[in-house]
Amino acid sequence: MNNDNGRLRIAIQKSGRLSDSSQDLFKRCGLKVSLADRKLLSHVGNMPIDLMLVRSSDIPGLVMDGVCDLGIVGDNTLEEHALQRQLTGETSAYNKVCSLKFGGCRLSIALPEEVDYQGVQSLDGLRLATTYPRLLNRFGEQHGIRFETCKLNGSVEVAPRVGLADGICDLVSTGATLEANGLKEVEVIYTSKAALISGEKPLSGEKAKTFDKLLPRMQGVLKAKE
Ligand code: PRP
Ligand code: MG
Repeated sequence: MNNDNGRLRIAIQKSGRLSDSSQDLFKRCGLKVSLADRKLLSHVGNMPIDLMLVRSSDIPGLVMDGVCDLGIVGDNTLEEHALQRQLTGETSAYNKVCSLKFGGCRLSIALPEEVDYQGVQSLDGLRLATTYPRLLNRFGEQHGIRFETCKLNGSVEVAPRVGLADGICDLVSTGATLEANGLKEVEVIYTSKAALISGEKPLSGEKAKTFDKLLPRMQGVLKAKE
């Protein structure tokens, strides 16, 4: 694995819910970040840090496999990926360094507005479209019900309208996407925020020194947001 050039490599979301806040956090820490359009690995000018811009669903694996030393990712994506890896027997260990104060959302089951919702048990046997089948199935197991899941990586809310599923399980932030697509939230199954994660193995040498400088700065920025 080519991750031994002494520079701390941090995976962040390229575009989406967490990307602006992640970049902003590092800038507030005093890092000279120049993210040129389409450049996917960016050298920080004033510290031995590289930012790697990737899809959020790839971040847990990149950190768990040691390709990146740190990552910023939503708890939902992290937990889904860890559950998936446990099933396939791949390494799923990581450390949650700290929870961050952005990217708050909930993972919820939603049904078409016209459905007369009769409680959790009435969800038994439904076909739900989701990006998070492991978290959804875990919720089902906890309640003694089963779902048929249908995986979509985005635009999940369209599924009931086109006959692909009875309902959905997806992230809700403001609720605007649900409303615009004629859906209502019926169960919150997971609440999530962005987190800073590291791999299982402790950092050493130059990388450990850089991390020890960076972490208090991050904590300072987070504290200032309180
Ligand atoms: C996310 C998420 C929901 C929506 C929630 O989708 O998957 O669909 O945002 O936000 P809201 O409650 O404020 O409407 P995103 O817009 O990132 O697109 P995608 O699902 O197609 O990736
Ligand atoms: Mg969406």
